[in-house]
Amino acid sequence: DGLHARAVAAGKKYFGTEISISVMNDASANNIAKNSQDFGQYTAENEMKFDALEPSRGVFNYANGDKIVAQAQANGQIMRCHALIWHSQVPSWVSNGGFNNATLISIMRTHIANVVGHYKGKCYAWDVVNEALNEDGSYRNSGSIWGSTIGPAFIPMAFAAAAAADPSTKLYYNDYNCDKPGSKSTGAQNLIRMVKAYGAPIHGMGLQGHFTTGQVGSASTLVQNLQAFANLGVEVAYTELDIATPSSNPNFNQQATDYATVVSACKQVSACVGITTWGFTDKHTWIRNSYPLIWDTNMQKKAAYNAILNAW
Ligand code: XIL
Repeated sequence: DGLHARAVAAGKKYFGTEISISVMNDASANNIAKNSQDFGQYTAENEMKFDALEPSRGVFNYANGDKIVAQAQANGQIMRCHALIWHSQVPSWVSNGGFNNATLISIMRTHIANVVGHYKGKCYAWDVVNEALNEDGSYRNSGSIWGSTIGPAFIPMAFAAAAAADPSTKLYYNDYNCDKPGSKSTGAQNLIRMVKAYGAPIHGMGLQGHFTTGQVGSASTLVQNLQAFANLGVEVAYTELDIATPSSNPNFNQQATDYATVVSACKQVSACVGITTWGFTDKHTWIRNSYPLIWDTNMQKKAAYNAILNAW
């Protein structure tokens, strides 16, 4: 029994976690990550991002990403692979290279062909494009080397390149603040229509799900949002779920309730294939001083654990 086992019993593909080389080097944390009853899926925290995999032009470094895939395979866990094209964690040779439109398109396609080719057959899904939208749902140009140099056309190009390199992985658009109906969620739906209009495949919408306690709201609102994506013919997943609670006044019961609400929403929508939390222990989290995860810093289960278990 466990978080993943319950998700599977509810008809889902997985309950999973983000993992990193630092977690793998922390034995007490890694013991939890290796329990395939709780976790049936991994996402690499940073190890498969552009700057990690292609630190200089044409030089690919797969060592850390491969270690994560190897541990997943040893435990029968699937991989969501993350992330091919994002405005952040881009190496300086790309962001400061002064490349024109045609050269940057070629750099993007070369990166995708190499990386997706390397992991061919090993990724259940790829986050092909990450965070390409502004809060109002318009395309992010300023602050993105891809958007500012190529324009939104980089998005369908990236999906087409990924499909060519591995025709059987699920291709996702992934973003934050698309978890409820609103302008950014509508923008993501328009992005999905745009990729399809260009004739490129897109199979999934990744909802990052970075929340704060009390902000999750009701399952019915989340369900309505999930269903709006499903109606476009794509699957959906919560890809980076964490629920911050202020360290000055943490509310772990509200946090447990909020985790259960997200699980319940996914459970109610058949197109929701699974949930990934962005880590599992408060010892290893990207959000400082807000205890957003399911195990505490001493690897003890918090209230959220049983709440998730029972919500499936
Ligand atoms: C975060 C990592 O957790 C940090 O270690 C890193 O410094 C920055 O990126 N959205 C994403 C993830 O898609 O890749 C980000 O991960 C969190 C926000």
